[in-house]
Amino acid sequence: MSGYQEKEYNTSSLNIALWKKIFGLMKNSKIFIITSIFLVMNAVGEAVFPIFYKFAIDSFASGKVSLEYLPYFIVLISLNIIFVCFACYMFFYMAGKIEMSFSYDIRKICFEKLQNLSFAYYDVTPSGWIVARVSNDVARLAEIVSWAFVDVIFGFISMIFMLVIMIMANLRLALMIIILMPILFAITYYLQNRVLFHSRKVRSINSKIVHGFNEGITGAKTTKTLRLEKDNYDNFKQETSNMYNSSVKRGMVASLFNPLIFGFSGIASSLLLYFGGNMVLGETLEFGTLLMFVQYVTTLFSTMRPIAADICDLQMAQASGERVIGLIDTPLKIVDDPEVIERYGTKLAPKISNYENIQGDVNFVNVDFAYLPQQYVLQDFNLDVKHGEMIALVGETGSGKSTIINLLCRFYEPVNGQILIDGVDYKKRSLGWLHSNIGYVLQSPHLFSGSIADNIRYGKLDATLDEIKEVCKLIKADEFIEQLPDKYDSQVGEGGNLLSTGQKQMLSFARALIKAPKIFVLDEATASIDTQTEKVIQYAIDHVMKNHTTFIVAHRLSTIVNADKILVIKNGKIQEMGRHDELMALKGYYHHLYTNQFSDETLDEALMDLTIN
Ligand SMILES: Nc1ncnc2c1ncn2[C@@H]1O[C@H](COP(=O)(O)OP(=O)(O)OP(=O)(O)O)[C@@H](O)[C@H]1O
Ligand SMILES: [Mg+2]
Repeated sequence: MSGYQEKEYNTSSLNIALWKKIFGLMKNSKIFIITSIFLVMNAVGEAVFPIFYKFAIDSFASGKVSLEYLPYFIVLISLNIIFVCFACYMFFYMAGKIEMSFSYDIRKICFEKLQNLSFAYYDVTPSGWIVARVSNDVARLAEIVSWAFVDVIFGFISMIFMLVIMIMANLRLALMIIILMPILFAITYYLQNRVLFHSRKVRSINSKIVHGFNEGITGAKTTKTLRLEKDNYDNFKQETSNMYNSSVKRGMVASLFNPLIFGFSGIASSLLLYFGGNMVLGETLEFGTLLMFVQYVTTLFSTMRPIAADICDLQMAQASGERVIGLIDTPLKIVDDPEVIERYGTKLAPKISNYENIQGDVNFVNVDFAYLPQQYVLQDFNLDVKHGEMIALVGETGSGKSTIINLLCRFYEPVNGQILIDGVDYKKRSLGWLHSNIGYVLQSPHLFSGSIADNIRYGKLDATLDEIKEVCKLIKADEFIEQLPDKYDSQVGEGGNLLSTGQKQMLSFARALIKAPKIFVLDEATASIDTQTEKVIQYAIDHVMKNHTTFIVAHRLSTIVNADKILVIKNGKIQEMGRHDELMALKGYYHHLYTNQFSDETLDEALMDLTIN
């Protein structure tokens, strides 16, 4: 995550507005109400158990009630067991359902958001951060919302029922227990927070170690060439020892819980037995009631730890919640206006029947653009392109060629000025309309996992295999595809990494070509392709794309000699513009570039001939 500053999230105070928002994201709120009903049933059913014991001792064991009523009592107690089992099953089942539907709802919202976020967002946000949000944070949030919330509510409801029963049975004894409860809860909560603190530390060191491993593996060759092994090893040793220390501290604090609860239960039971015992002897309290109190105390005190743990979990999950909501609330920089959406629909629900046919005229009118505030890459940029023209962009690295392409594709929008397509500001038409009419082969081609045919079909979803083969033949990609064991069904691997860069470029070229777009954009699309194949592709561009507006960015100038307009870009401005022979006649920068490159290429070819011979 180099250079990316993760925001610090607040976990110390409960952010009610945030939780409201999180629960608001859940489509099916009925599920919470149904779960709460089972939860209350379960809590009541469990809380009344000690009353049965009290009754058994005080009535049957003491002989106050005849044993002939015992079968009824057994039936009653059995019914309660069935009731609790049923409520418990339903409550767990519903909590699981909440977890599933919650993560489904949130992931869907996140996914839609990610589809709509602009390039600028992906420029500054590491992909690992995004993946962590939609996987770990959503999973954590869903788990907490379903289990911890439900657990805390269950714990509190059970406690309230038990306390009410105790108060009704004997106020003095009940008060004795009530006084002890906040003390135990405060200590438990403090310890739980310490556990959380150390857990967080362990987790943060762990991610550093994982990151280190990752860099160590992916950068293994660089590490060796730079002789960084010792430094890396020392860092690793330091981090693992920090992790060990934090883990030991966490373990030490966590081990205090059981003795603490045991001790408190012991104190409370002793007090109960002492005072309650005296009452029993003085015949102001029934023996069964005393036993019922002892039982409640043990249950009450052991409920404290899960409640404290859940509250801490909720605080931790608040950070996950803030991160997920942060992603969902990220403002969209490139969006269609409401009236445009009204007419053309969204990308996910387009109204294609309203899409106008496109000619392919393009105008940049006084366009200013900056990726970062005030750092202009283009200033007052103007360009007029008639449909069917081929425009070539050449210039030094960083001069702004890809930026012009990015603006044309509306991956970014001009800060000032307009871009017109067929004389209409492209913001007045939808992103979906524009992208369905542009075919682009980007500077770094990306393929998706799947087969070669699948990847080409992304350009035209209903393309037949014959159409795919035809387009591949046109650019001679069929030659390498036919040599693969599975031909068009060959898998390309993640991101296309089972293929060479040149092969990836050819496939992304075929993918754009099959779409037969009115505007065709090639950003260094032939940089990794050998000169022979490049000539074939050139032929395809010249002939297939004859009536289509084409923008080509090329370092190798031999590919663009036929362009209708060659723009030499320098520092975001057009320095020279014209056809190849016009620019050559100018004897300016293009002439210089071309003659230098041409002599380099002739030298390369001569060397190649020598090696072949
Ligand atoms: N996402 C970005 N955020 C900030 N600055 C950027 C971004 N992309 C490009 N730039 C800057 O904008 C300027 C123009 O970049 P651009 O990618 O358009 O150059 P280019 O002409 O395509 O170069 P190359 O021939 O190397 O591909 C450069 O100074 C570059 O550093
Ligand atoms: Mg570029």
